[in-house]
Amino acid sequence: MRRAVCPGSYDPVTKGHLDIVRRASRIFDEVIVATGVNVSKSRFFSPEERLGMLETATADLPNVRVAGFTGLLTDFCRDNDVHAIVKGLRGSGDFEYELPMAQMNAHLADVETVFIPADPAHSFVSSSLVKEVASFGGDVAAFVPDFVLERLNARAAERSRGA
Ligand code: PNS
Repeated sequence: MRRAVCPGSYDPVTKGHLDIVRRASRIFDEVIVATGVNVSKSRFFSPEERLGMLETATADLPNVRVAGFTGLLTDFCRDNDVHAIVKGLRGSGDFEYELPMAQMNAHLADVETVFIPADPAHSFVSSSLVKEVASFGGDVAAFVPDFVLERLNARAAERSRGA
């Protein structure tokens, strides 16, 4: 069984993420989309909300399941018999950011990182940018599934009211 993990913050999941997950699901027997904690990023959605959105967004992919993790990604890989970490690369900035993590993860566990080049249509899309634009009332409908857009706009409105 070739099992891979697509780790990320997914705060929230974007169409760019989903393109990578879908393409990984064609390469591996099983793909686990795992929401982790990036200590350097502030969060819009709770872990439970992010997991729920990922479950809905990947429901059409039979060999994909969703999980959360809190500690090291390599511990998650060991516990789940995962030997491949899949990451999307939008450009050289992503590569600079991802390479040391891939090397550290390979040092920590028997796991390879596989990079999939992003579709150019998604090369400028990130959760951070989508949240920022939505927070100021901008239109991000092209970049997230419709049900995520509703949640995002509702959360942005709550936050602007200070709720
Ligand atoms: O979507 P992101 O924010 O780029 O995801 C980053 C994430 C959550 C995949 C990364 O921060 C991570 O793997 N965190 C778990 C803790 C860990 O293993 N850190 C060491 C990485 S070498």
